[in-house]
Amino acid sequence: MADLPGKELLSASVIADRVRELSEEITRYYDGEPITAVGLMNGSIFFMVDLIRLLPSSTRIECWRVQSYLGQRSSGRIQGLDSVNGDYAGRRVLLIDDILDSGLTLTHVKRSLLAQNARSLDICVLLKKEGTQIHPVDVRWVGFDIPDQFVVGYGLDLDHQYRSLPMIRVIENTPD
Ligand code: IMP
Ligand code: MG
Repeated sequence: MADLPGKELLSASVIADRVRELSEEITRYYDGEPITAVGLMNGSIFFMVDLIRLLPSSTRIECWRVQSYLGQRSSGRIQGLDSVNGDYAGRRVLLIDDILDSGLTLTHVKRSLLAQNARSLDICVLLKKEGTQIHPVDVRWVGFDIPDQFVVGYGLDLDHQYRSLPMIRVIENTPD
């Protein structure tokens, strides 16, 4: 494929193997207790689907649509939190996102879920950028630690492009 951006960081099969491992760890951790999986859209769309298919069938599924990025930079603000309500009281919640960068998104979403009386809240991200967390947030499961570079594919986008790529690729930094 000639139009692939940047260079490959994680192949589709490396991702699939790791998603399977994560599903096994998560299943062991909850030990048969029912959970609600909350995936942050659009970035975690493929990760969430692939992961949840491997979790027990009692898993409830919710998708929240939140946004913080503009181009290759965090906008510093979260949009979309006002529309997220559901039945989380007393539930064990597994929060799923594509990538932990500054931590702003997960900090806000976590606060929102706890305000809705979730019984427990644990976070799983596919990727964690090294050394970029300004807002510290505890993440129980990380798929891959990656360098602080902009990545696309497997749900991650650059201005809505490249989400559907099956692998994760690193894009050269371009000036804003
Ligand atoms: P945070 O709020 O700074 O932690 O950023 C988290 C959100 O920003 C993620 O859920 C992604 O949607 C987006 N994001 C952060 N880094 C990247 C990247 O390298 N590529 C694509 N999206 C990113
Ligand atoms: Mg996101």
